[in-house]
Amino acid sequence: MSDAIARTAQKAGTTAVQRCIVPGCGAEFGIREQIYVCTRCSGPLKIAIPLELLKSVPDLRERWQARAASHDSRDRSGVWRFRELLPFDDDVPVVTLFEGNTPLYDAPRSAKYVGLTALRLKHQGCNPTASFKDTGMTTAVTQAKLLGARTVVCASTGNTAASLAAYAARAELQCAILLPQGQISPAKLAQSMDYGAVVCEIAGNFDDCMRLISELADVPSIYIANSINPFRIEGQKTVTFELLEQCGWRVPDHVVVPGGNMGNSSALGKGFDEMLRLGLIDHLPKVSVIQADGAAPLAHLFAGLKSSELAAEAALPDDIAPIANPRTLATAIKIGAPVSWKKALRAVLRTHGSIITVSEQQIADAKAIIGRDGIGCEPASATTVAGIRKLTAAGKIHAGESVVAVLTGHVLKDPDYVSHYHRGTLSFESVTAEGTAETVQISGAFRNAPEKVAASREAILKSLESRR
Ligand code: F0G
Repeated sequence: MSDAIARTAQKAGTTAVQRCIVPGCGAEFGIREQIYVCTRCSGPLKIAIPLELLKSVPDLRERWQARAASHDSRDRSGVWRFRELLPFDDDVPVVTLFEGNTPLYDAPRSAKYVGLTALRLKHQGCNPTASFKDTGMTTAVTQAKLLGARTVVCASTGNTAASLAAYAARAELQCAILLPQGQISPAKLAQSMDYGAVVCEIAGNFDDCMRLISELADVPSIYIANSINPFRIEGQKTVTFELLEQCGWRVPDHVVVPGGNMGNSSALGKGFDEMLRLGLIDHLPKVSVIQADGAAPLAHLFAGLKSSELAAEAALPDDIAPIANPRTLATAIKIGAPVSWKKALRAVLRTHGSIITVSEQQIADAKAIIGRDGIGCEPASATTVAGIRKLTAAGKIHAGESVVAVLTGHVLKDPDYVSHYHRGTLSFESVTAEGTAETVQISGAFRNAPEKVAASREAILKSLESRR
């Protein structure tokens, strides 16, 4: 590549701005200003990359592909190898654990289960701390270092915390995480402890932790790494570039993600949109978001949208009705007041996707069927396959269409859930229409409990025979 083109490619990152997404505001801020929302109207911010500059770079796709074989530490990261589209100077010292570059698997058993000819699973649980959060943390913590922060903080249902703790350790920054006490998987908590974070267990739910975080926003030495921070979204959007590369730049018909705080769906929307505006794809895949029945504020809002609102994003509601006591065994997405719902809703509407809910039983069975493809994931990730099954049954996805489910976390993130499902002891605290609590047993359609077998050759062969 000529020097002139290299300079152009680099300039795109350094001339990016932070821009308010609220129609009618659109205020712009410098790329190294330490803000999280618009200081004029409190609206969400996005990073605007000047894509026009990049349109003159002829071989972006080839450059990104070539970097995958390089040993440069930025090239070994599946996020930083797309650095033309990241808001940083070319020579910035990146904080990386070589995140991204995750596998895209064929999943024939899951495909059959959901009623499709084929289904592919993009496994973001194959990241360094075993969730998709790492792709956003590498950029957010790199920005924290550039800003001279001393401490990085987040509220979390477990994965954001584990990821931030790891990247903060790499960057030698203090890390504080706010967790809803007793409501996150012990495996995730163990990660944060191991990476040396200050673990604050808060008597409340995730939404209470998130409110506390916003009270820390004006402390200059503290940098907030929740997905309200647009630098998180920048890293997370790169999964779309990588996915398109893995699909040979043929756009899948549908891409389906779980929805919690809505950072991931927002990031997917932004990534695909940038590829379209750069002319690297000629249409958008439908992006659909799946929530758990008991923690589905955005699915409820979506279901209530009028057709005029579905068509015109300017007319979208200003507020979302939060769920006061979200309930789901998929603790990663046990969130009642999602911070990034506006960006996520726009992404879904722009791509003509859907936002739906699935039950605890559907999540559990989908998780087990994904396991039968040899691909473990945590419960929140399995909402995707459960949701695809529902969308297929409803005729919103057709059997022959190309569909990708994004698995967001690894199976070992929540081993207690897995074990209870397979032993037939998984249960869920629900509330009836009258408001009384009731315990619902999850039946475990694909149950696979261990059995006691005598210590003999015959007993083992007999056991195998009986399970064939
Ligand atoms: N899947 C997993 C495994 C998650 O950990 C999360 C979010 C989501 C899906 C939903 O993604 O919030 O971007 O819509 N976990 C956050 C956390 C909230 O604190 O770890 P989202």
